[in-house]
Amino acid sequence: MPANTASRPAAWPELLLEDVGLRLSGRAVLQGLTLRARERRIGIVGRNGSGKTSLARLIAGLIPPTSGRITVAGVDMAQDRKAALRMVGILFQNPDHQIIFPTVAEEITFGLTQLGHNKAAAAQQTAAVLHRFGKAHWADAATHSLSQGQKQLVCLMAILAMDPGLIILDEPYSGLDIATRQQLMRYVDRTPGGVILVSHDPDALAGFDRVLWLEQGKILDDGPADRVLPRFQAQMQAWGGQDDLTHLTG
Ligand SMILES: Nc1ncnc2c1ncn2[C@@H]1O[C@H](COP(=O)(O)OP(=O)(O)OP(=O)(O)O)[C@@H](O)[C@H]1O
Ligand SMILES: [Mg+2]
Repeated sequence: MPANTASRPAAWPELLLEDVGLRLSGRAVLQGLTLRARERRIGIVGRNGSGKTSLARLIAGLIPPTSGRITVAGVDMAQDRKAALRMVGILFQNPDHQIIFPTVAEEITFGLTQLGHNKAAAAQQTAAVLHRFGKAHWADAATHSLSQGQKQLVCLMAILAMDPGLIILDEPYSGLDIATRQQLMRYVDRTPGGVILVSHDPDALAGFDRVLWLEQGKILDDGPADRVLPRFQAQMQAWGGQDDLTHLTG
């Protein structure tokens, strides 16, 4: 994915994880995550159940860590929900878990009113983002009648309309046809802010500034995509070639 960072101002915030742990239903889901990241494009890879979505939700401030601290641009995501909403946008793995309004325009407007924009300003910004994506004709479309890829695009537009410094995309390309996937990747690449992209597909993260590889809730590797992804791929193939997959249950 092209990332012409040289000509852009540094418009994305620093992410800091300090010894972050997460327990859910008495189970250690994430353990001892510590990192400082200033990169614009960060990928998160790992097998099913390795903790990618949990980490994404933590960074977005949707759930608090059990231990440790997460800050984005110095703001504690678990403590300041309002700032978290303004600074970080998250695209869920399943858009059906995200969309709550009957029409596309209402869905996009909601986030803007949550940020404190008045009705007129929110309506104007909604129209602007729809126009920017060439989807002005979608304004009154019923969200439930959209395809999965179209729903994902609505969610993405809703997030970008809020203009967060950081967007987190959790498996945004699964279930998309090649053309829609490419279109979505282009939109994501054009966003001026930081991007954290969760995927177990190495192709989606090629060329990323930094890739975190999660394995059983811990960071197994952390570095530039061209170093981490080949290692990850080789390991996946090695595990996939084994008949005994008991260790895959995590
Ligand atoms: N609410 C919960 N209660 C208990 N365990 C949970 C809960 N949510 C997630 N987990 C467990 O935490 C682990 C990590 O889940 P998570 O959804 O973060 O994985 P993932 O890497 O996103 O997986 P996938 O690639 O399948 O999306 C899994 O073992 C899962 O069963
Ligand atoms: Mg997940």
